[in-house]
Amino acid sequence: MYTVNAPPDRVVAVLSADERWMTLALDLAPRGLGRTAPNPPVSCVIVQGDEVVGQGFHPRAGEPHAEVFAPHGAGAHARGATAYVTLEPCSHHGRTPPCTDALIASGVCRVVVSTLNPNPRVAGRGVQALRDAAIDVSVGILEAGATRQQAGFRSVIVRGRPWVVAKYAMTLDGKVAAVGEGNGKVSDAAARERAMVWRNELDAVAVGSGTLNMDDPALTTRGVPGGRYARAVVFDRQARSNPQAQAWRPGSVLVTAPDAAVSAFEASGITVVRAETPQSALTQLGHLGLSSMLLEGGPGLLSTLLDAGLVDEVRTFISPKLLGGGLSPLTSPDRRMNEAQELRDVTVETLGQDVLVTGLLSDIPRL
Ligand SMILES: NC(=O)c1ccc[n+]([C@@H]2O[C@H](COP(=O)([O-])OP(=O)(O)OC[C@H]3O[C@@H](n4cnc5c(N)ncnc54)[C@H](OP(=O)(O)O)[C@@H]3O)[C@@H](O)[C@H]2O)c1
Repeated sequence: MYTVNAPPDRVVAVLSADERWMTLALDLAPRGLGRTAPNPPVSCVIVQGDEVVGQGFHPRAGEPHAEVFAPHGAGAHARGATAYVTLEPCSHHGRTPPCTDALIASGVCRVVVSTLNPNPRVAGRGVQALRDAAIDVSVGILEAGATRQQAGFRSVIVRGRPWVVAKYAMTLDGKVAAVGEGNGKVSDAAARERAMVWRNELDAVAVGSGTLNMDDPALTTRGVPGGRYARAVVFDRQARSNPQAQAWRPGSVLVTAPDAAVSAFEASGITVVRAETPQSALTQLGHLGLSSMLLEGGPGLLSTLLDAGLVDEVRTFISPKLLGGGLSPLTSPDRRMNEAQELRDVTVETLGQDVLVTGLLSDIPRL
């Protein structure tokens, strides 16, 4: 990225050609979010001169990869063109043949890779395979945006557990619920619509037994065109959850203690994860193929995972209401201000009357 000569308060960012085409690819890749695990959401754009001749993204696990769709669309126009891929292509045989083979066969003469693949079976070998075929390769264009999209894939590959995004809504005086009241809506419709988009994009949506029993959330995706349901996960050490709750559906997961009595849940087809610690629970959720998880509360579960260092990202809606009394988002013990966990890469956005604050607590795992 470079800048034109302009006054410091009006610096205009100008994208290089590589950044412009990679931006297009980065707009395409998230269409696969929530559908590709254990694979990453990846896209490929093939450019001949100043024209896109082929493009594609990985739509879901088991279907062809982006580097197959894009050359297929480009046909003979790929010869001598440049391919932009948001992740280093794989160079090994998995469920599909190596993506490097598809790019080499297409005849492209240059490949621009946003970020290297942290999978130990790839990890630079994809770039090497392309270079061995006399293809010019550039790496690292708009890398931060690409790694952000791939946070779930990277988390499972590098740390063996899903990327955990904590989402909650609170009033201006920092309350997530009135005492003893189930299902009291804190935020506006616009905020709730945004949360539905996230449910569509993450692999799992999780609540604790307290929220399940108090609010009976459906944990479905509503109002998102083409949306699909994330896998519902309920954390409940003592198996006290209402077995008739709406969250129980085929594919739902109960995370409980090793000795909990859960035969009724098992008999109704619920997947049971028995874990001694929160870390073990998340590792086992990773083994179930879940690479990202939207943690929708409540305070008990959020505090457990946050205090164990297992929350990677926070998305908080703040609603212009004053409640008084009520539940705080966290039940963690008192700390000094200099012990507060500080978010990085913070964004602030207005949604209707609410304010959405997001930020990272963890670095996105890299190679
Ligand atoms: N405004 C919002 O965004 C929002 C979102 C969600 C909920 N809420 C509100 O929050 C309230 C409920 O909060 P809550 O703190 O009572 O309930 P909660 O956090 O939903 O659930 C707490 C339970 O989670 C279980 N749990 C915690 N860590 C666990 C682990 N590592 N493994 C397995 N289970 C684990 C524990 O079960 P055991 O006791 O069996 O150990 C604990 O009692 C409700 O009023 C709800 O409306 C607000």
